[in-house]
Amino acid sequence: MAELPTRTLGDGTSVPVLGFGTYPLRGDTGVRAMASALEAGYRFLDTAVNYRNEREVTEAIRASGVDRGDVFIQTKIPGRDHRGAHRSLRTTLQVMDLDFVDSALIHWPNPSQGTFVRAWERLVEAKEEGLVRSIGVSNFTPHHLDAIIEATGVTPASNQIELHPFFPQVQQRADNERRGITTQSWAPLGRAGEVLTAEPVATAARAHGVTPAQVVLRWHLHLDALPLPKSADPQRQAGNLEVLGFDLSAAQVEAITALGRPDGRLFDADPDTHEEM
Ligand SMILES: NC(=O)c1ccc[n+]([C@@H]2O[C@H](COP(=O)([O-])OP(=O)(O)OC[C@H]3O[C@@H](n4cnc5c(N)ncnc54)[C@H](OP(=O)(O)O)[C@@H]3O)[C@@H](O)[C@H]2O)c1
Repeated sequence: MAELPTRTLGDGTSVPVLGFGTYPLRGDTGVRAMASALEAGYRFLDTAVNYRNEREVTEAIRASGVDRGDVFIQTKIPGRDHRGAHRSLRTTLQVMDLDFVDSALIHWPNPSQGTFVRAWERLVEAKEEGLVRSIGVSNFTPHHLDAIIEATGVTPASNQIELHPFFPQVQQRADNERRGITTQSWAPLGRAGEVLTAEPVATAARAHGVTPAQVVLRWHLHLDALPLPKSADPQRQAGNLEVLGFDLSAAQVEAITALGRPDGRLFDADPDTHEEM
């Protein structure tokens, strides 16, 4: 079983360098897929209220026999709960039968709602009360980050953003880094689309004798981003963990980053306009 090293977030919390995405794993098959991920060695599970699988996360941890204390559990507060982020987190803890989660993120800023600053204030309080160890955001751009930091003086530990070779987020990653925020990558494999057959990825995979998915996940780690690949398949889950036995050259990292294009998003998920409740 692969054992992943950890990294330290800006708030001092320790977290594995790679996590497991749980969307859209649900029900008994979802529990089995998450339990097999834990058995393979994942110790960071990324869920959300809107994935409707928080209960399954707890069930999978129990089924796997792994200590809850050894698993970093991250959830996300949906847009409809911004005003009651604190209450939302209490409901999550009830659903998950937990005393605290390790990380909670605001899922989307939903700027037209005008409530993400309030949500951040509630999360700051929830952390002070011990309901959550680390607080952060998802899909936030620099001006959303400015607003919440100015209002509270508290910088998020993490910002989870769409990040894959077709959308490498050069500017947002630099902005996160400047502020001491860890970038987490959603859809790190580009949902296993053309990213995995793109020339520099395939060439690097052949050169290192690994799979294209392993090259892409290694690329995230070279960028100092924290990828959250999802797989329902035990073999692919295990393979996605075996990404530290080789290094990409600076030229290979650069060639993969150069696949980026302005319209490289998987769908129209620009956080200034796309909103999810
Ligand atoms: N914050 C946000 O707004 C947001 C948005 C989207 C997603 N997320 C999070 O990010 C996680 C990952 O994103 P995602 O699931 O959209 O995309 P992804 O992880 O890039 O891709 C998942 C797809 O890749 C396939 N796959 C996995 N490993 C593979 C491999 N080694 N070779 C070939 N195919 C492979 C999976 O199929 P199999 O299952 O069949 O292996 C699945 O179809 C989600 O689960 C969720 O936790 C967050």
